[in-house]
Amino acid sequence: MTSVAIIGGTGLAALHGLEITHREIMQTPFGEPSGILTRGRYCGHDVMFLPRHGAGHNIPPHKVNYRANIWVLKEAGVKNVIAVNAVGGIHADMSPGCLVIPDQIIDYTWSRTNTFFEDSLSTVVHVDFTEPYCEVVRQHLIKGARKADLALIDQATYGATQGPRLETAAEVDRLERDGCDIVGMTGMPEAVLARELDLCYASVSLVVNRAAGRGTGAITMEEIEQNLNSGMQQVRRLLEYTIPLI
Ligand code: HPA
Repeated sequence: MTSVAIIGGTGLAALHGLEITHREIMQTPFGEPSGILTRGRYCGHDVMFLPRHGAGHNIPPHKVNYRANIWVLKEAGVKNVIAVNAVGGIHADMSPGCLVIPDQIIDYTWSRTNTFFEDSLSTVVHVDFTEPYCEVVRQHLIKGARKADLALIDQATYGATQGPRLETAAEVDRLERDGCDIVGMTGMPEAVLARELDLCYASVSLVVNRAAGRGTGAITMEEIEQNLNSGMQQVRRLLEYTIPLI
């Protein structure tokens, strides 16, 4: 049975090298997921893949149906989820091209449905989220990076912002004061929804630009795309070495 799923983010709308065995359009009580759930063999292992922003990368971060995406993975029998996220680097060490495995998250998003537990409850549910990422999958990723000889930062706080615009310099200053090292738009509510359904979920965050006010001048899409193209090769290599460990 497939126990590992990859949620592809910006720059990873498809998993090259995945030998597809099954493609499934799934419905959920929460509407449609972002795309077709693809099952297949990747480096000799059963894997599922779901593109967070759709196959054509046309669903912006604030419009992603996070509940439907997590629900289909649970329905399909997934136990472990590796989420791939493109982020901006706030901390000076988090420069473009860096791979980061965050261990904490602060949620600045708003008006996104962030729970499965809101209707027809027999009792109010509050999941524990002290450690928002699954330490087991995090450690597999860290070990995978070592085996693949990839540099990686294994602790960081991810600030999840609403988007789709990038932040102002003052907003990034505030994120830094709060303790955020990286900033992205898709980390929440995905992580908490995975926790609510008891999925073991961790993120591979690829730094694709210096956060607003941390580089020289404006952030350009050209810069982001360049760093995405080169960085996603590292992400693929990390997945190749990590998936066999799970
Ligand atoms: N901010 C928010 N999300 C992002 C960024 C950023 O600078 N870069 C990539 N995703």
